[in-house]
Amino acid sequence: MKNYKQALTHNIFKIISQSAKELGIDSYVIGGFVRDFILKRESNKDIDIVAIGSGIKLAQQVSKNLPNCPKVQVFKTYGTAMLRFEDIEIEFVGARKESYNENSRNPVVENGTLQDDQNRRDFTINALALNLSEVNFGKLLDPFDGVKDLDNKIIKTPLDPNITYSDDPLRMLRAIRFATQLNFQIEKNSLKAITDNKHRIKIITKERIVVELNKILESKQPSIGFFLLEQTGLLDYILPELTGLKGIDEVEGQKHKDNFYHTLEVVDNISKNTDNLWLRWSALLHDIGKAPTKKFNKKIGWTFHGHEFEGSKMVFHLFKRLKMPLNDKMKYVQKLVLMSSRPIVLAQDEVTDSAVRRLVFDAGDFVDDLMTLCEADITTKNPKKFKKYHNNFKIVRQKIIEVEERDHIRNFQPPVSGEEIMAVFNLKPSKEIGIIKEAIKEAILDGDIPNEYEAAYALMIKEGKLLGLTVHEKR
Ligand code: CTP
Repeated sequence: MKNYKQALTHNIFKIISQSAKELGIDSYVIGGFVRDFILKRESNKDIDIVAIGSGIKLAQQVSKNLPNCPKVQVFKTYGTAMLRFEDIEIEFVGARKESYNENSRNPVVENGTLQDDQNRRDFTINALALNLSEVNFGKLLDPFDGVKDLDNKIIKTPLDPNITYSDDPLRMLRAIRFATQLNFQIEKNSLKAITDNKHRIKIITKERIVVELNKILESKQPSIGFFLLEQTGLLDYILPELTGLKGIDEVEGQKHKDNFYHTLEVVDNISKNTDNLWLRWSALLHDIGKAPTKKFNKKIGWTFHGHEFEGSKMVFHLFKRLKMPLNDKMKYVQKLVLMSSRPIVLAQDEVTDSAVRRLVFDAGDFVDDLMTLCEADITTKNPKKFKKYHNNFKIVRQKIIEVEERDHIRNFQPPVSGEEIMAVFNLKPSKEIGIIKEAIKEAILDGDIPNEYEAAYALMIKEGKLLGLTVHEKR
């Protein structure tokens, strides 16, 4: 068997090896660390150690042998322990022979051999183990040909996939996530087993589902994962808003595009231009309002009136259902969905300064991300249109910069305050103040006056007179 000593150059492995020796037990590095080393992926900061004995005792022994004896966190129910050393997180577990309870992820645990432990892991590529004992240091244990599957880019379970997925249904999502991150194929029987067991995803907590969804979205080409979720039927359980976008309807010879397919193109496009997870979520959800708002109109064909507003409301319900944060991240996604068509409408015609000012006013700090979303949203296969839209967006971006430099619309603060209006006209809080403020804001956005104090003051006087107010206090 091959030796992978070169994976174990970090001092921590010597210390674990020594600690296990002191306890008279064997230990192995297993899982993601070994997989990622062979794949030459960025070095994994999570290390999983299997002890043929007590994982908790091994963790405590390792801690004793480390400078400053780092704290060992013990998870008694699972028989695992964790400690941090430098920037590495090390998890210890005793080799287990497991069977799972039908209705939960909680396993019934028995002590076992390394092979028992490898049997119960999720994929052949995650069951690779390196020996840490002194004599066999670095020796690879690969009972299911995981290295071959790494070479052939295959996701496969060590046991019958029905058993592996049924033991822990989260693994169905993990299979799809790894296929997306690594651009691997899920083996045929495995894919079928996921389809057959899809309903069991219901027992998995929303938080863990979202971890996997985020990892899919953070991949280079997220569409791989979403197509697999759709193909296996899992998407219906997790994000039914997206399955609602599937398909093309035809009435009287008029068709609309398949909005599911389009959405995934947009997500892949945006992933080339941003690592911002929430911007990627916005791309994924930007059209979800199209399913409930779809109508056929004899004269104009298919319409999705108000889908952006509907979609932004759906974002809230979706985040809530998936127990995602209902904070500024959600508001950001809502706003981008709500505004997702604005620059497009703007770029279809001649781009005017005032339209750009209004866009910047409404989008505030999100305006650049909104432009990135809209550029990704251009999926037309007509090269002429593609070029035209991109050119127009270039003009919009340029105008945003010019308007910003001149008018400072972003995070707009009224140049004349409500207090000043009250003082000048000797007013108590009243609706007239709102009317004057609105008139000043509109005049600035329309470009009738510059965003400056003098011009705004003059307009205030004029508007006040129109309302029948008298100037009480001169500057
Ligand atoms: N594992 C498993 N079933 C799960 C989760 C994890 O069998 N549902 C096993 C796999 O052997 C996996 C190891 O536990 O390699 C560690 O799991 P985790 O840290 O979640 O994943 P990694 O494989 O390390 O990959 P990543 O860090 O990319 O999530």
